[in-house]
Amino acid sequence: MSNPPPAARLGQMLCGFWVSQAIYVTAKLGLADLIQDGAATAGELAAKTNTHRLSLYRLLRMLASVGVFVEEGEQQFRLTDVGQCLRSDVEASQRAMAIMSCEEHFRAWCELLYSVQTGQPAFDKVFGMPVFDWLSQHPEQATVFDAAMVSVHGRETAAFLQAYDFSGIQTLADVGGGNGSVLIPTLQANSHLRGMLFDLPCVISRATPNFQAAGLTERCQLISGSFFESIPVGADAYMMRHIIHDWNDEQCLTILKNIHRVLPPTGRLLVLESVIPPGNDPFFGKLLDLNMLVIPGGQERTAAEYETLFAKAGFRLTRIVPTSTELSIIEAHKA
Ligand SMILES: C[S@@+](CC[C@H](N)C(=O)[O-])C[C@H]1O[C@@H](n2cnc3c(N)ncnc32)[C@H](O)[C@@H]1O
Repeated sequence: MSNPPPAARLGQMLCGFWVSQAIYVTAKLGLADLIQDGAATAGELAAKTNTHRLSLYRLLRMLASVGVFVEEGEQQFRLTDVGQCLRSDVEASQRAMAIMSCEEHFRAWCELLYSVQTGQPAFDKVFGMPVFDWLSQHPEQATVFDAAMVSVHGRETAAFLQAYDFSGIQTLADVGGGNGSVLIPTLQANSHLRGMLFDLPCVISRATPNFQAAGLTERCQLISGSFFESIPVGADAYMMRHIIHDWNDEQCLTILKNIHRVLPPTGRLLVLESVIPPGNDPFFGKLLDLNMLVIPGGQERTAAEYETLFAKAGFRLTRIVPTSTELSIIEAHKA
């Protein structure tokens, strides 16, 4: 039906989690890796994944109806171009995101009502502690988290490199830089740049082999610590991608003031986030904003909200550079 009636459209929205959970099971069982570029029957896949053949068939048939698989022949399935993104070995892999979203995030989202009533992150209520503390204690899920950041934000890296001119920067610090998936390509694309990766100790341990493999240990310092305590001195530009959206205004001010303290007078701050536009058009940042409420307790912000936040920390927002993705580069200098 090309234009279903309103109740049916709402009904489709309500079933959204059926689809996401079915995608999750596909990701968790590694079905896309088993099929790859070929085709496989439900029976073959059930045998390889130790699952119930008929139930697995029904899962595959349901996902074929929404464009993840194509059923061709007797219970035989191949991946569509969308389904290909569930493979672990493709650049735009969404497998880690599917696992993270439908394990911890899904459990926290069951308490969305609590977040809306209190303004507090449901994650803390369900898991008994803030998400980054929990990840520090759960190394397996932390590795999935790192990969999920690449799943959800990986596309933005090339767009950032294309949109921004790094020629006036000597040393670029990536604050909360995770596994280096932004800083490594930035250093590779700008041979004059030196780098500094700053993150929590367990994250720096996970990131170190990535810098070694890229041959960048001479050009980049890896420093562990908390941005709520202090920020390392020595860079003339401090960037943060998807850090500020993790925190409430008070916490953001602590981070921004810590950067302000170490930034040279002519240095610059680069905050990489989606800037919420006015109007009702679809914008992924508006969905992500609710996820920020539920999981870390942060929020996406409008341009005016960034301007106000920066001013309170002693910064002047100088420009917002758009990219070909929803990511913008929000540039600021000391006021
Ligand atoms: C949403 S991820 C973004 C990672 C990376 N910047 C990217 O864009 O892919 C948030 C990052 O903040 C780091 N982080 C959380 N709390 C921190 C703290 N107190 N000090 C330093 N880094 C922290 C996390 O370990 C994680 O790498």
